[in-house]
Amino acid sequence: MADYTNRWTTVDVKIEDGIAWVVLNRPEKRNAMSPTLNREMVDVLETLELDEEANVLVLTGAGESFSAGMDLKEYFREIDSSPEIVQVKTRRDASTWQWKLLRTYAKPTIAMVNGWCFGGAFSPLVACDLAISADEATFGLSEINWGIPPGNLVSKAMADTVGHRQALYYIMTGETFSGRQAAAMGLVNKSVPLSELRTETAKLAATLCDKNPVVLRAAKIGFKLSREFTWEQNEEYLYAKLDQAQLLDPEHGREQGLKQFLDDKSIRPGLESYKRQ
Ligand code: COA
Repeated sequence: MADYTNRWTTVDVKIEDGIAWVVLNRPEKRNAMSPTLNREMVDVLETLELDEEANVLVLTGAGESFSAGMDLKEYFREIDSSPEIVQVKTRRDASTWQWKLLRTYAKPTIAMVNGWCFGGAFSPLVACDLAISADEATFGLSEINWGIPPGNLVSKAMADTVGHRQALYYIMTGETFSGRQAAAMGLVNKSVPLSELRTETAKLAATLCDKNPVVLRAAKIGFKLSREFTWEQNEEYLYAKLDQAQLLDPEHGREQGLKQFLDDKSIRPGLESYKRQ
């Protein structure tokens, strides 16, 4: 198994029982996303995608923060005076991991929101497939409080998960909300006491580890991209995705599932997964 200890300076990675725990690791700066962290996260995600020991990726933060958003000093003030081409590259690194890689990542992803979650952190939060929050976490679209409208994919992330009125309320007021409120508005799947957060997340990750990975990938990417297509395009695309999953699946899950239900009568797929050989 690969040892990632000290491989990155701003991100800590450990793999346990098929779960890659990816920890944004700048607790003294509330895990604000600096240009270095953004560059490193591109490498982390690309590395773990090919690591056969990593079946599910959990994104979280060290200390009391998930992430306080973009680094206001290193990502904004210091880059403002850089040549335009540096600004382009810096923004591209941020977008590359915060939504482009995560949104269609080859493995299931869970955001585990353990504390402060502000501004730019909403992009990776929503780009992850699923999200669990601590009740005690504090979320906020604080951009308005320091003089900018939400940038990158922050507003799009809100539009994709939360109702119109609530999204605009928090975008326009900068008011904070709790993990429980985030769950009630659909920004995260659920919220649990902080003391149970890691156990609950590991339980969800273990459920995903048990599923057929090729089918899981086709299902999640199919769903995400279907939001952008018309009904006609969706029918073509989702059938193509279904055929692709069948062709690429080395364990022939569909055949196994049908056999176990129709012939062996050993499962009821409405209630349980087929037994993977
Ligand atoms: N960018 C850069 N530095 C940040 C940061 C950010 N987004 N968020 C926190 N930090 C730094 C602070 O400057 C401070 O650094 P210092 O010790 O060198 O002075 C350190 O992290 C601790 O911050 P502090 O404000 O003292 O921590 P806190 O626990 O009292 O409050 C927050 C935590 C998250 C409420 C507060 O830091 C904050 O409001 N951060 C900005 C959040 C934000 O608006 N993000 C949107 C960015 S798009």
